[in-house]
Amino acid sequence: MSSVPDPPPEIPGLQCVAIGKDSLLYRKPRDPPTNPPVVDMRSDTVTKPSDEMRLAMLEAEVGDDVYCDDPTANKLETRAAEILGKEAALFVPSGTMGNLISVMIHCSGRGDEMLLGDESHISFHEQGGSAYLGGVYSKIVKTLPNGQLDLDDVRRRIQTIDDPHFATTKLLCIENTHNRKGGRVLTPEYMEQVAALVKGRGIKIHLDGARLFNAATALKLPASKLTECVDSVNVCLSKGLGAPVGSVIAGSKDFIAKARKLRKALGGGMRQIGVIAAPGLIALEKGSKRLQEDHDNAQLLATGLAKMSELGVQIDISTVETNIVNFYVIRDDMKAIDFVGSLEKRGIKMLVCGDVWVRSVISCEVTKQGVEFVLENIRALLAGK
Ligand SMILES: Cc1ncc(COP(=O)(O)O)c(C=O)c1O
Repeated sequence: MSSVPDPPPEIPGLQCVAIGKDSLLYRKPRDPPTNPPVVDMRSDTVTKPSDEMRLAMLEAEVGDDVYCDDPTANKLETRAAEILGKEAALFVPSGTMGNLISVMIHCSGRGDEMLLGDESHISFHEQGGSAYLGGVYSKIVKTLPNGQLDLDDVRRRIQTIDDPHFATTKLLCIENTHNRKGGRVLTPEYMEQVAALVKGRGIKIHLDGARLFNAATALKLPASKLTECVDSVNVCLSKGLGAPVGSVIAGSKDFIAKARKLRKALGGGMRQIGVIAAPGLIALEKGSKRLQEDHDNAQLLATGLAKMSELGVQIDISTVETNIVNFYVIRDDMKAIDFVGSLEKRGIKMLVCGDVWVRSVISCEVTKQGVEFVLENIRALLAGK
């Protein structure tokens, strides 16, 4: 039963924005949106915690998590394991640490190697940490435009015979959705093919599922259907799901026991983490159920951009499957960097990924009106207005 007064008492200059079990959350009324409004499409990592999350942080029960005493973190881990269909789960500070821990556990011997897509986040955006922190050699395989690994290339590169010339393949990493390939989705059928390729050869599969719930939403499947074939999975709470911080990794009890130990060695033993696990739980339970809205907005953006081919915009809308929209600005007078710089002056933020390549990502911070504003401004900018 709630112990807070109902209705909440009025406090001059403040607004009650959330009512909890034992707390009321007040804050100054938000400033009206700037004119022009800022629409941040650089990434889905830019989301800010909702009032519900901030209230949950305020009310979170906490304990020392290094002693497994934080009830909120324990609850998050139990729910994550259930939702991801694994025996156990662990809350980690970031997706990068979740991937690193997983790689280091699966490739724990000297001379172990992993097969890694050339365009994967682990290979491209994690500083090669698995090599310099984990001592793990990456053998690079080709990534296809749809985010799948080229399985012929994988087959050729697997090395399990006992021969002093070779490292031993112990791990294969896949990514769903695939970040650099524009949020492309791996299907359960493809994952079964991957699993069949490594079966009986002593090779584990790690899934970098930073955006796994986007894939599950696109396929209209429970996330657990996409983890059946893998030994471990990393899922980010702090991307489209909207939490301010953190990821979860999931796998067998034995894997998670090792992961908990390794997390501490890497500096990720976090003590009273209930305050950040609480918004993580909301992200997992509720954030995962609203992603279709982001995908619809991504479609709106992509179809709007496709109508600007005469202005030099190139996009293949059939590749937009989730919340990431990659497109290309092909003009003599403007490179991607100029385009993005000019958009920023109009309050719109996107990322430059190459000479002509622009990346935009939809999250709960971007509304349908926001997308319409972006489309209007891109058209005006490219038409020289
Ligand atoms: C596919 C993928 N994996 C891992 C990560 C790393 O997550 P974090 O930024 O929490 O370290 C990201 C971040 O963008 C990502 O896109």
